[in-house]
Amino acid sequence: MKNKKKIISVVGARPNFMKLAPIARELKKKSSKFTHIIVHTGQHYDHKLSSVFFKDLGLPEPDIYLGAGSGSHAEQTSAIMIGFEKVVKEEKPDLVIVFGDVNSTIACALVCAKLPGNCGTGPVPLAHIESGLRSFDNSMPEEVNRIVTDSLSEFLFVTERSGVDNLIKEGTNKKKIFLVGDTMIDSLVYHKKKIASSYILKKLKLKPNKFILVTIHRPVNVDNRKNLARIVSIFKKVSAAAVKKDSEISIVLPIHPRTLKMAESFGLLDELRQIPNLKTIDPAGYIDFIRLLRDSLFVMTDSGGIQEEATFLKIPCLTLRDSFERNETLELGTNTLCNLNEKLILRKTTEILEGKYKKGKIPRLMDAKASQRIVNIIKTCL
Ligand code: UD1
Repeated sequence: MKNKKKIISVVGARPNFMKLAPIARELKKKSSKFTHIIVHTGQHYDHKLSSVFFKDLGLPEPDIYLGAGSGSHAEQTSAIMIGFEKVVKEEKPDLVIVFGDVNSTIACALVCAKLPGNCGTGPVPLAHIESGLRSFDNSMPEEVNRIVTDSLSEFLFVTERSGVDNLIKEGTNKKKIFLVGDTMIDSLVYHKKKIASSYILKKLKLKPNKFILVTIHRPVNVDNRKNLARIVSIFKKVSAAAVKKDSEISIVLPIHPRTLKMAESFGLLDELRQIPNLKTIDPAGYIDFIRLLRDSLFVMTDSGGIQEEATFLKIPCLTLRDSFERNETLELGTNTLCNLNEKLILRKTTEILEGKYKKGKIPRLMDAKASQRIVNIIKTCL
């Protein structure tokens, strides 16, 4: 039998799992050519942030679990590096695939860069999915993770045109850059039927278009008391404006562990929970979350991926950040960058409630074929 190529995919945190699932499916279709090993670093370990996603996305159990867990950035990154170095030495992969911009991504990229690859002339080849995105804000841990990971990658798989431009400006060899689209959207389209049959609306007693979905977890927003207090005040005002227009409208907030912990420690949790018409719920699984997003009136978020999913679903998205990296969601899609600007958020809320908000177009590469393109490129080049 011909020599199969060994590929390791590494995931660690919630936003990685839906990017991996369609790649894993494509690699499985080509199992005569590839052996695929899934490594979970354990950065996210709660059922609600991790295993429920494996189940929802139909991913097989990870082959290797590193159990790195939480800690400071240095503690978490180094724990992942120590665990992953052993895996790479043992498994000797022909390619390692990393996803997005989380600490697991940079940790495993660094490990690959410092170990010899199988061909004997360089390090372990690395493929980065969701390469090239830049917020130009180095105070975000994700931005540092992106820049370092891209600089170490052999295959840079980019989701949108601006990513290619950013990489070229940084001097990246054009031959390494592949504009392929967004594997997150592949997942969403693949699971459309399951999403349509989720019971989450019934469970939470919600009606389509009668609720605002909110997610918030960025350190800049939740680790700083002033900003978190401002966010609570924004939610109060948005809730009041919405209820004035239609008393049935509520706000649903699946609360991230970081946000819960910080709101408690700043003494803001009661104030948050006392906002009339606001429901805090546990973090939702993939299928339920996308169903909530699909049927929401609009979403307020500081997440990266949700900006893309909202654009694809044509759901208005108010992004509570002051920097951005997903240009197409703003230029073509339904996204507006609002920072914590209360006036702007209330103005946009009114536009949405009055049906005057921009409708948005779906970017060309959100066509559910990104993973197919990626695996074809890997097959040709490896
Ligand atoms: C991480 C990513 C962020 C991503 C987010 C999605 C980095 C630098 N950040 O942020 O880009 O948008 O995931 O959720 O990688 N915790 C739990 N249970 C868990 C995991 C974490 O309670 O399963 C707690 C930790 O104890 C910690 C906090 O949540 O206090 C933050 O976890 P961490 O993985 O450091 O970063 P996130 O904020 O989740």
